[in-house]
Amino acid sequence: MSSSKLLVVAIDFAEEEYARLSQHKENRDWYLFKRFKLTLYKNEDLNENTKIRDCTDKEMLAIAVFSGGIHYLKDHLLTHFKERIPHLREGDIHWVLTVPAIWDEAAKKFMRKSAEKAGIPGTRLTLALEPECAALYCQLGAPRSGLSPMQPGAKFLLLDCGGGTVDITVHEVRYDNSLKEIHRASGGPWGGIKVDDAFQEYLLELFGFERIASLPKHDVIELERSFELLKKNVNTEDKNYHMQLPLILRQSADIGIGTLIAGKLRLSSNVVKGFFEMPAENICRKIQEILLSLRQPDLDTILLVGGFAESKVLQEKVQSKFPTMKVLKPNEPSAAVIKGAVEFGHCPEKVRFRMSPYTYGVNIVTPFRHRKDPISKYIEIDGEAYCDDIFDIHVKKNQSVETGTEISNEDYHPMTQGQTNMNFKVATSDSLSPKYIDDPGNRIIGSFDVRIPHAFASLERYVNVKMIFRGTELEVEAKDAHTKQKYKSSFRFE
Ligand SMILES: Nc1ncnc2c1ncn2[C@@H]1O[C@H](COP(=O)(O)OP(=O)(O)OP(=O)(O)O)[C@@H](O)[C@H]1O
Ligand SMILES: [Mg+2]
Repeated sequence: MSSSKLLVVAIDFAEEEYARLSQHKENRDWYLFKRFKLTLYKNEDLNENTKIRDCTDKEMLAIAVFSGGIHYLKDHLLTHFKERIPHLREGDIHWVLTVPAIWDEAAKKFMRKSAEKAGIPGTRLTLALEPECAALYCQLGAPRSGLSPMQPGAKFLLLDCGGGTVDITVHEVRYDNSLKEIHRASGGPWGGIKVDDAFQEYLLELFGFERIASLPKHDVIELERSFELLKKNVNTEDKNYHMQLPLILRQSADIGIGTLIAGKLRLSSNVVKGFFEMPAENICRKIQEILLSLRQPDLDTILLVGGFAESKVLQEKVQSKFPTMKVLKPNEPSAAVIKGAVEFGHCPEKVRFRMSPYTYGVNIVTPFRHRKDPISKYIEIDGEAYCDDIFDIHVKKNQSVETGTEISNEDYHPMTQGQTNMNFKVATSDSLSPKYIDDPGNRIIGSFDVRIPHAFASLERYVNVKMIFRGTELEVEAKDAHTKQKYKSSFRFE
């Protein structure tokens, strides 16, 4: 990043500043990234060299952008605090970084790495799952969340409707008021930006690709900002909406009479509500799917949080699709995650049970089963026939796991007398009973070598591998039974 400059400031200011630079043709060396969090969602090739493109298609390393953003927020907060608490030391602070619950291990590790690069030590960092934080915030009760805390035994479905994704979790309140996840976190890319996308498509249809594509960058930014304002004011009433347009579009004589009024674009309530249709439909379909799969009559509450949950159109859609359920939102739905994150940082044990989002396991070698194992997996060791790459399951998808407790514990023996090293690959699978480590849909998320010194050469030697969920992150630990040396898994992108 020698002569290039990364604009890392609060979003409104960044856009304003970039629009100004662009108007004066001074934006060449600057970058403006929008919606970049989505890069980490279901990104199979995520690693430290992954690049992302800014609004003018210029590339930068994703890790530089993420750590740049975290660095800015960290410095901003420290400056603010130091003004109020002069003797505050950085070591006094424990940081909580929130991530969508539907992110996989690789994306979580990527965030951790980005935070460490931004100067936050790993030992003082907790990753928290966004819908869980929001659930804790709602449970705080009035006056803070404005809701009545749910009683032990109550079950609720929470939707965190953000900009990029909508995360859905289902929890039960336990007797000690801690939360137990009763349905694996799910969701999809149906956040508020899908409404923006629908508006963009409408503009393309109305004005034509050429005209929209040739808009100067500052006009595009202005247009997006005007729509953002309009979007926040959309309600379920039947009325027209008006928005300011850039001069070039205002002069489009070929646009239908009644669409442009005094230089403003007129949008009917049906057109505007139509922009919300795709994300709202998908969200409701997902809720329905979860309710049908759980079949729990006492699950009678839907909590809406996140910025997009402020939308009256979305609220009305959810309530009308599920008329028998209580659809509630706390005070400040947009701040629910961040406020709950502080709560989670203080008391991570308030969420003790989670459902494993994947099946986790390691690769092993087993005796070859003729007519059952594929020939491509056939290997010979000391003249014996073996099958390579067997997926040895440690944790099953949907298994309820308690945080901080060992979930699996398996012993593995070396294959030959002279072996001095055992390599383990850690993999995830969407299947409940994956057979081979490299089956389609599986992912290798980490690997590690365990040294087994010659001094103890014998097939009786063994390595113990266990998996533990430390809060929201998976930890895989291997121990040589003789030397007692411990090894932690290193994840793929490191
Ligand atoms: N009153 C409102 N009506 C409609 N949409 C709104 C309203 N307020 C905010 N939004 C939308 O909510 C989205 C931002 O929500 P939020 O702040 O929860 O997102 P985020 O947490 O940054 O995103 P993500 O959770 O995907 O990482 C934006 O798309 C914004 O336009
Ligand atoms: Mg969010």
